[in-house]
Amino acid sequence: MYKTPIKSRTWLIVIFLVITTCEFDLAQKFENLAPTPPMGWNSWNHFACDINENTIKEMADKMVSSGMKDAGYVYINLDDCWQGNRDSLGFIHPDSERFPSGIKNLADYVHSKELKLGIYSCAGNKTCGGYPAGRGHEYQDALTYAQWGIDYLKYDWCNTEGLNAVGAYTTMRDALFEAGRPIVFSLCEWGNNKPWEWGADVGHLWRTTGDIYNCFDCIKDHGTWKSWGVTYILDMQEGLRKYAGPDHWNDPDMMEVGNGMSINEDRAHFSMWCMLAAPLIAGNDLRNMTKDVIDILTNKEVIAIDQDRLGIQGFKYSSNDSIEVWFKPIENDDWAMCVLNRDSKLQKFYFDWYKENVIDDVWNKSPNFKSLTYELRDLWNKVIIGTTRKELKTEICGHDVLMLKLLKQTK
Ligand code: GLA
Repeated sequence: MYKTPIKSRTWLIVIFLVITTCEFDLAQKFENLAPTPPMGWNSWNHFACDINENTIKEMADKMVSSGMKDAGYVYINLDDCWQGNRDSLGFIHPDSERFPSGIKNLADYVHSKELKLGIYSCAGNKTCGGYPAGRGHEYQDALTYAQWGIDYLKYDWCNTEGLNAVGAYTTMRDALFEAGRPIVFSLCEWGNNKPWEWGADVGHLWRTTGDIYNCFDCIKDHGTWKSWGVTYILDMQEGLRKYAGPDHWNDPDMMEVGNGMSINEDRAHFSMWCMLAAPLIAGNDLRNMTKDVIDILTNKEVIAIDQDRLGIQGFKYSSNDSIEVWFKPIENDDWAMCVLNRDSKLQKFYFDWYKENVIDDVWNKSPNFKSLTYELRDLWNKVIIGTTRKELKTEICGHDVLMLKLLKQTK
């Protein structure tokens, strides 16, 4: 009987391995692009369609001069309405009035500031704003984005009748991977198809809800759809923390800090997004920020809670009347704690550490207040306010927070 010579068999094995490795390569997202939640700015919440290249360049300038870049913000993200038409070969071009110098030129400008440029498209036939979208053009668009020097893609879910979400987003993931430029992939299908259950293999973050609305605790009814105030979005995160971690984050939507809420509300909103290990994508006009707004967006100690390397999303420990107590395990066996007053009036807060049994049963951690002592650092007032050996008695303003870092004491 004829036997394949050893040399030929070795070659067959090599060819088999090359083929299977190539197949694996196709089914991937770019790894390690978001080891901590992405930080940046996006045009939608403040500007909606009122964008052009000068405004975007000014945002990049301000991200640097305001101290935001130094605090960790990196992405300058175009949202909807940048698009012009597709040409006869199907390639997308930007609106020539809004972006006369082209997107590559804008990317070069943003990169010259050591920042990164993000862009927006949609899995459907048209974007939510009615502009040309990705369906049927995925590979072509991914190539275009790579050639322009894009670093981040938000991919929306309007006009997707008949589409399967996992399939549509996976197609775009594969297209980005094939194009070869590492691009953070942000899934924006509003939680409709439970992206937390499949999104980790597909993208780096996924929206968990419909759109945020610029108010603390109201709902905005648009007729056929609704957008949600901060506390509504917060409540919708229930049960999702086990799905999030480095390179695959729950995204409770872009921030409304600096867009008109009171300063207490902005602070509470920002603190809670950090407790959630949420992407920190500012949505305000960076050219017109009060000192209070800059201080919120650039508080490095609060940002450090969001950006903690463990990547564990915080959890609600208790809720009494309008006071909620949240905990988040962080590196070095330390913890973050945030007390949120959802009432519009000032509330007293009392916490006797010895009597509280705080347990993170998803990640199997506990601060164990009965046997361990923690120093308490108030992250907004930037002072040590005591330790867990003495009960905490304080007051919290309406729609505001007390945010603490609990530092484990070694003795
Ligand atoms: C959807 C998204 C928003 C924004 C708009 C743009 O509503 O959820 O974040 O991108 O589309 O049209």
